Amino acid sequence: MSMSRKVVVKINDQGFNARTGEILLDAALDQGIAVPHDCRAGQCGTCLVRLKRGVLLGGDTSQPGLFHACQAHILSDADITFEKLPPVGERRGVVTAIENLAPDILGVSIQTERRLRHRPGQYYRVKFRGYPARCFSPAPPFAGRSAANVAHFHIKIVRGGRVTPNLGSVIALGHKVVLEGPFGAAFFRPGDGRRLVLVASGTGFAPIWAVAAASLRTQPEVPLLLIAGARKLSSLYAVPALCRLALYPRASFIAATEDADRHAPSEIIRPGTPLDHLPPLLETDLVYAAGSPKLVDAVAKKAAEVGATFFADAFVANPPEEPTWLESLRQTLALARKGLSASPRLAGNTAHAHSDDAR
Ligand code: FES
Repeated sequence: MSMSRKVVVKINDQGFNARTGEILLDAALDQGIAVPHDCRAGQCGTCLVRLKRGVLLGGDTSQPGLFHACQAHILSDADITFEKLPPVGERRGVVTAIENLAPDILGVSIQTERRLRHRPGQYYRVKFRGYPARCFSPAPPFAGRSAANVAHFHIKIVRGGRVTPNLGSVIALGHKVVLEGPFGAAFFRPGDGRRLVLVASGTGFAPIWAVAAASLRTQPEVPLLLIAGARKLSSLYAVPALCRLALYPRASFIAATEDADRHAPSEIIRPGTPLDHLPPLLETDLVYAAGSPKLVDAVAKKAAEVGATFFADAFVANPPEEPTWLESLRQTLALARKGLSASPRLAGNTAHAHSDDAR
């Protein structure tokens, strides 16, 4: 005998009947309510919703009331909202430019048949014809503006990878591409004057630069600190963007490389990792981090310590297995028995497979 019961769920003012225990995302999609989603594993953050009233189990984040719809089970009548985002879809296009940004990083431009619609900081699943899809975030060019049907990606060449070593050789100008998306919740939200602290390592600079450029364009009076890091000075391809940032009096930047001491000790390029140069955060800060999971986790902890709002885009190889409804309940009960709450999650957390592995 089923123990579930009927409840009424309202999403963005559209009401429908659901059963307790149902995954919120599935229940919404069954009703034709297009809650944005991608990984369905609690990793990408695309499906974030706000719970106004009612009870959900699982899918919680560090921000009170914010849940991953793909992980949340409906437990009662509920009133829920989500941010309207550009619809997810496919865009066909071709490679129109490939340039060296650094010895191990390429700038790849793709022109699509129809205009692209995404929020700064979101990402696409990019499928070069004949190769598996990889996730990359479009970034604005370092100078000038790009057309609405052109996306620029910063792509690290991964030795032994199945896709990226072919860029510039087998994957050349004119190669056909399909972009699916946009996905991700670590995107720019025009703010209320709060300081933006943006932290990037490696090609995590792409979504971070997208957020920075959007802020400079729409709210140049808002203080902004950007910290960009790379292992080697030769991989620090962000310098032209940082020069552009220097034109804005309310913006400041720090560039850090682990070999800076040896090659160019200077005020501008500092030795160490971005974390070494993160200033004390404030509760009122809006903090974004993108790049290696280690960096993103460390910045998340610093943000959580002061209660700052945090958005993350961690570049991981693969999402973990999705816990089942029963496992989720077991975990919650086990934690409750120990007098603990579920482990804190990040708000607007995006973790997806940017890296080009050999599978
Ligand atoms: S679809 Fe829910 S976190 Fe990715």
